[in-house]
Amino acid sequence: MIQDKLRELEQSSSKLNSNLTERSHLQQAAIEYANRFYESQPEEKAYREFNESVKNLLNEPIDEEAGEVEVILRELENGVVRPGLNTVSGRHFGYIPGGGLASSAIGDFLAAVTNRYAGVYASSPGAVVVETRLINWMSDLVGYGEGSGGYLSSGGSHANLTALVTARDSAELKAADYSKAVIYLTQQTHHCVDRALNIAGMKESKRRYIPMDDRFRMIPSELVRSIEQDRNDGLIPWVVVASAGSTDTGAIDPLDKIGGIARENGLWYHVDAAYGGFFILTDDGKEKLKGIEKSDSVVMDPHKGLFLPYGTGALIVKDVKKLAEAHRFSANYMKDADVKSGIYSPAEISPELSKHFRGLRMWLPLKLHGVKRFRDALEEKQLLARYLWEKMKTVDDIEVGPEPQLSIFMFRWNPESGESNVLNRELHKSLLKEGRFFLSTTEVDGRFFFRVAILSVRTHQREVDELLSTIQEKIKVIKPNDGSA
Ligand SMILES: Cc1ncc(COP(=O)(O)O)c(C=O)c1O
Repeated sequence: MIQDKLRELEQSSSKLNSNLTERSHLQQAAIEYANRFYESQPEEKAYREFNESVKNLLNEPIDEEAGEVEVILRELENGVVRPGLNTVSGRHFGYIPGGGLASSAIGDFLAAVTNRYAGVYASSPGAVVVETRLINWMSDLVGYGEGSGGYLSSGGSHANLTALVTARDSAELKAADYSKAVIYLTQQTHHCVDRALNIAGMKESKRRYIPMDDRFRMIPSELVRSIEQDRNDGLIPWVVVASAGSTDTGAIDPLDKIGGIARENGLWYHVDAAYGGFFILTDDGKEKLKGIEKSDSVVMDPHKGLFLPYGTGALIVKDVKKLAEAHRFSANYMKDADVKSGIYSPAEISPELSKHFRGLRMWLPLKLHGVKRFRDALEEKQLLARYLWEKMKTVDDIEVGPEPQLSIFMFRWNPESGESNVLNRELHKSLLKEGRFFLSTTEVDGRFFFRVAILSVRTHQREVDELLSTIQEKIKVIKPNDGSA
């Protein structure tokens, strides 16, 4: 009886484990789709407007019976991939562009095929060593040296959260201290830092937004003043967060000076280099990021600066023991994993246990292409930003923000007549409608600004020139009605 049932179940369930013919069919279809996708990118839109019909998928049945790969891929292409932002487009200049490397996608494919248990050395020493190698490489880039360590996270938000939890535990703050603990940051700091404090249970901690100079960088003397004031008021100055490339304006805080102040005052020094960190590969970036080595922890996102697909951030801590202390655990069922290897397993120094083998999507491209190509690509993005900023500066009625420190700057259309915010919103609407380019926007003192963020691996001079001419053409068409016509 049981035997019959087992036979019947095996017959059905073994279909999950496709045979060579079935697998080849699926792979062929997926590769054809991927190649079509890549080849279409030079002319593909950067953004497609969408309406409520995208939600139709919510009513699609998840069928009991098997589906056809061609039908499913068509659904993926039309219903899932097309609407909204095309993040791998070279004409994506919004937020922080990321992704696009085919070699990384293949790395991910192999990571999923082999499914190594990347969280624990005893289970998958190779996967843990690869991840550790990558972390050590990043640690060398920022100049940390011996005793440092970290892990590959899902992204910058996750890495900033674990950095702050480590800083909290390192300062031995207890719940009763939280309302007196002070974090120093600026209005340019990414919002995930504020959210991390809330998630870490520190909602009532004090945030001090330190004034910035005209290039949106923290003013060190104001930081000192604020720390002294808080100490005199009986508060606990605890952590300072500097941005090494802020999201909105690409501003780099004076990392070296802030490092000195943090040390003198016994503060944990955290640098959010999620966007800007990998520019340290270039000569100019290295110069601009000087002082980053003074930090206690740093976040840098390979899914930004190394053009990897989303889901790859990194936290590096100068004293890895502090990271381990903040993530200490014990469980009877994990005793076998407790192997003395001299290498921290990601599971010991991060919140994850069963972990995606993220290292492979980063290791494969680095090995395959070599670091020089990444350095050149990053230098190219920096130069493109500078080039476009210089050009925009000379265009009538365009006001540009501060010169780009890395590869981000702001601009707005500011004609003599017409309400600038209204006109810029109209320009933005028109860009989205056409969809050839994608730009995101921000506000500075109530004034609307476009941001230009150049970090797509597919953005080259052609895309940048075309962006400028498109904006100029659109401005001519929208033209404010100044009554003289
Ligand atoms: C400076 C900075 N920090 C943190 C983050 C958050 O990173 P993620 O989106 O990978 O969670 C971003 C995202 O753009 C960022 O630009």
